[in-house]
Order: sequence, then C-alpha cells, then structure tokens
Amino acid sequence: MQLRKITIASGLALALSFSSAFAGGSKPAVSFGTTITEADIAAWDIDIQTATGKGLPSGSGSVAEGKALFEMQCVACHGVDAAGGSQYGSMVGGKRPLTGGGYPHASILFDYIRRAMPMNAPQSLSNDEVYALTAYIYALNEFIPQDAVLDAESLASIQMPVHVRDGFIVDDRPDTAATRCMEDC
Ligand code: HEC
Repeated sequence: MQLRKITIASGLALALSFSSAFAGGSKPAVSFGTTITEADIAAWDIDIQTATGKGLPSGSGSVAEGKALFEMQCVACHGVDAAGGSQYGSMVGGKRPLTGGGYPHASILFDYIRRAMPMNAPQSLSNDEVYALTAYIYALNEFIPQDAVLDAESLASIQMPVHVRDGFIVDDRPDTAATRCMEDC
C-alpha cells in the first residue's frame, strides 16, 4: 500500500513538471518531430459530405474515359463490364451497397474509389480518373446516360433509384440524439 502511494505521488510530480514546462510558452522539455504543414493535412483531408456533395474536388470525367481506365486498372479483379471478377462479384444491377444503389447519395462511390481503389494501389488515381470511373459504374447501372460527364455538381445531383432514396428514415429516438430519457421512457 505504501509503495502504491509513493508511485501515485511521483507520477503526479512528473505530470506537473511536464505541464509547467509547456505552460510558459518556452521551448518544451520534450522536443521532437516537425510542425505539420497545410499540405500534410490536405493529403488526409479527403472526406466528402455525401448528402450535400461538399468536399467533392474539382475535375471531371466521362463514361467513355472511365470504361478505358476500368479495362486497364480494374478488370482483373472486377471482370469485364464490372460483372464480377477474380476478387469481387458484380457491381451492376443493384446487388451491392455502393455501386448498385444501396445508398441514397451518389457521391459515396467517388469517395470510396478515391480512398480505396485500385486495391493494389489505393489513392493513385487523379480526381479526373475517379470521376470517370464513377461515371462508368453508374452508367453500367443505368443511373446516368452513356454520354454523361461527371463533375462535383453533376455527381451530387444524380438521383438514386427511388426505393433507395426514400428507403432511409431519420432516426430521432432519444438515445440516438444523445439526450437521456430520465422518466417515463
Ligand atoms: C487487386 C484487386 C482489385 C483491383 C485491381 C481493384 N479492386 Fe475494387 N475491390 C477489390 C476488392 C477485394 C473489393 C472488396 C473490398 C471490401 O469489401 O472490403 C473491391 C471493392 C470495390 C468497390 C466496392 C463495390 C461495392 O459496391 O461495395 C468498388 C466500387 C471498386 N472496388 C472499384 C474499383 C475500381 C474503380 C478499380 C480500378 C481503378 C478497382 N476497384 C480495382 C479488389 C480490387
């Protein structure tokens, strides 16, 4: 018990000495690493607010460009016309959550491809290429015409199939709004 008290006391002393070293604005006692730059942050800051399309980058790509890219970089795992390949099943016909329209907002597919594909070289595609691939996969699913060109605005305005768009409800139960129900719950 005595030993435990001593350990806590010395831990506290150490914490106090660290915090006083940082508090005065003087050079901290522990000094390593480099200050993060805006460019470092930008490379990680690639999320898209899918409901509004906020965060979609500039650039554009057509269905035809997407088809050509798909045949070079994706076909080995996803098959001809994305019908299913060595690594994955069909991305056409409404069976998959992202590509078949299992999600109400179209920009989710852009976010996924930019982040994760091709699986052997994620984040190697330019924004134009990601727009083109997104266009190609949505055209295969007949959400957009074969001659479509996608950019931030046109992607965010794609209307997903009605069963998907209207298939989600706002969950406003008390616990999901982080408000505790304290009586008559
Ligand atoms: C080396 C194999 C490989 C390559 C190459 C590849 N993928 Fe994939 N892809 C996968 C695998 C495996 C999954 C499933 C990943 C998971 O479920 O976590 C996947 C999943 C996906 C999905 C999600 C489908 C859905 O509806 O859930 C999309 C979209 C996709 N890939 C697009 C692409 C595109 C576009 C390319 C080419 C730029 C590409 N992939 C190249 C292996 C690959």
